[in-house]
Amino acid sequence: MTPAHQKNFHTSNPEEATAINREIPEFAAAQISDEDKYFANHKPPSYLPEIKEELDKFIKYHLENTGKRIALVTSGGTTVPLENNTVRFIDNFSAGTRGATSAEYFLENGYAVIFLHREFSLLPYSRHYSHSTNCFLDYMTEVNGKIEIDPKYSEQMLHVYRKYHEAQDSNSLLLIPYTTVNQYLYTLKLISEELKPCTNKALFYLAAAVSDFFIPQSRMPQHKIQSSAATDGELVIRLAQVPKFLSRLVENWSSGAMIISFKLETDSSILIKKAKSALERYHHQLVIGNLLQTRKKEVVFVDLEHDDHWVRLTDEEVANGKEIESEMIPAVITLHNEWIKKSLA
Ligand code: PMT
Repeated sequence: MTPAHQKNFHTSNPEEATAINREIPEFAAAQISDEDKYFANHKPPSYLPEIKEELDKFIKYHLENTGKRIALVTSGGTTVPLENNTVRFIDNFSAGTRGATSAEYFLENGYAVIFLHREFSLLPYSRHYSHSTNCFLDYMTEVNGKIEIDPKYSEQMLHVYRKYHEAQDSNSLLLIPYTTVNQYLYTLKLISEELKPCTNKALFYLAAAVSDFFIPQSRMPQHKIQSSAATDGELVIRLAQVPKFLSRLVENWSSGAMIISFKLETDSSILIKKAKSALERYHHQLVIGNLLQTRKKEVVFVDLEHDDHWVRLTDEEVANGKEIESEMIPAVITLHNEWIKKSLA
């Protein structure tokens, strides 16, 4: 329920017809040499050792005390800085809705969650009140000189508040931020390696929209690009391809975990073909395909052992506030159960 004084206008959704041209052929999967080259030529974020400490504590806690499965949920877009002292960067549309919503349903279904997210994108639980076109103060009211939650919203807020505290009190949610694609790649590699002891109880749910192109550190200007850098009124920037690290994640960075990637397209006629080709190239367990235009009401599960399976909400369900992740996550968990059983056999 959102306060409704004013009609909401959304400017963040790109024009669907021209949003992204995904017709170009797929890049080759990254090889060991691409990995070595990338990590040798790009500095790790300085805070990585602190993240490692947090991860160690979180994973050890669940391995030794709760026995919970751990889902790594990646969420939001990565940025590509154009300058070392970054004034400008390339970004993408993802607000982190899929990731933040999915994380809540994993928690509700008994998983511990490592939430690797773009800093300041949507977070589990607070997403219900942040990033809204309504001001959070609209949820408040003044009673006898004191501020209170408006009774209209209190039941729903109490529900979210309780779930949030349950996740906090059980130490089930670890938030890890990134902003740039370099930070994302280093942190993903670290988390994958830290999760190795969890073997098949770990689940990778890679919903982040990772940049396909970037400026390597060796070519990055130190300071803000000046307008005088333009030639004939044009500024030309050369971007290099970001290695497709999913293959390295499957083969080397993780051990026995179930790995799920997402495929985003804008043309429905190529979605399943692209999802299948990702499975064949990376040899992971599941691709969840979605279309930019309809991603909140339908997704398709594509794997090599089952028929393609659509998860869909009706218009009425969407209008009543049902979230597609409430159906996706139980379906993912069924496949994770199968994966665990199979790896024990
Ligand atoms: O945040 P929302 O607005 O809710 O949007 C959610 C979403 C549409 C972004 C999400 O549901 C989604 O589809 N995310 C994946 C976007 C995508 O198309 O990814 P990709 O085709 O660039 O990459 C496919 C997979 O390869 C990704 O899961 C990624 O983990 C992996 N990859 C990507 C780049 C890279 N360098 N290495 C990789 O391994």
